[in-house]
Amino acid sequence: MKEELEKIREECQASLSEAKTEMDVAEIRVRILGRKGSLTQLLKRLGSLPEAERKQIGRRANEIKEKLEARIEQALEDIRERERRESLAKERIDVTLPGRRMDFGRRHPLTQTLDEIVHIFSLLGFEVVEGPEVELDYYNFEALNIPKGHPAREMQATFFISEDVVLRTHTSPVQVRTMEKRRPPVRVICPGVVYRCDSDPTHSPMFHQVEGLLVDRGITFSDLKGVLTVFVHRMFGKETNLRFRPSFFPFTEPSAEIDIECFICGGRGCSVCSNTGWLEILGSGMVDPAVYRFVDYNPEEVTGFAFGMGIERIAMLKFGIHDIRLFYTNDLRFLRQF
Ligand code: PHE
Repeated sequence: MKEELEKIREECQASLSEAKTEMDVAEIRVRILGRKGSLTQLLKRLGSLPEAERKQIGRRANEIKEKLEARIEQALEDIRERERRESLAKERIDVTLPGRRMDFGRRHPLTQTLDEIVHIFSLLGFEVVEGPEVELDYYNFEALNIPKGHPAREMQATFFISEDVVLRTHTSPVQVRTMEKRRPPVRVICPGVVYRCDSDPTHSPMFHQVEGLLVDRGITFSDLKGVLTVFVHRMFGKETNLRFRPSFFPFTEPSAEIDIECFICGGRGCSVCSNTGWLEILGSGMVDPAVYRFVDYNPEEVTGFAFGMGIERIAMLKFGIHDIRLFYTNDLRFLRQF
């Protein structure tokens, strides 16, 4: 029985040294110290021994039992500690790894340009209003002093929906719609999409304009010049030279187009400005009294000015873009530059 006891001890120690998991250790414990375990069984048999032997072996057996229990505890402790270390090593975060790049979206260059225009005029007290893209001939032409058969209709290649309905060729009809609804003072800008049957590197059948209208008592051409000069300086820089060039629109009198000095050649003349040294950026003028008659304003009491500009044109000049179609093809290589 003595040898048996030592064998159990050795066998237990050998198994423990090979145990890899808590499960392994638990099995060993059952095998040796469980109710049917080898050591437990041995202890049960002690009673059949003669007294002297029983005492001696009994003491040794209890010693071994305590030792093995301690070893088993220790083995469990070791395994848990090893697993903790391994999982910490596996889950370690390398804080020196470069981060994942995020792709940011950005505003379309036309949106950026429009936002800037709206911002500048809002600083000057203008409010944004909008009108329909499918428009009555009456608002697009008639009430803007362009009657049927008027040669000025030829200036704007019109998409007709029916005889009386068109895709608006400019944002000027919003002037009329606004004055129909409001009494002076009126101070609005009207951004929106317009359509003309026209297509080449600088013309698109669909493009964007911003209209402006200011009507009040005592408004003069100086107000027009002041407001639009502030706009040009804000939009293109304080140093930008500009000029007001006499022009004609049926709904303004007098009319003027605004040119800015060509920033490619500095006014000396180049291909961008067709050797004139100037770039046209907008049309404007004092509201023609004929228009007031359509909206029941009294031209003896109020005066005002209006202006209209193409957003694509402004953006092309500001960013140096040579083909208007780039705005609509959504090529990321183009869009990422803004
Ligand atoms: N509607 C004109 C155009 O599209 C521009 C304009 C607007 C001119 C307002 C004068 C006043 O050409």
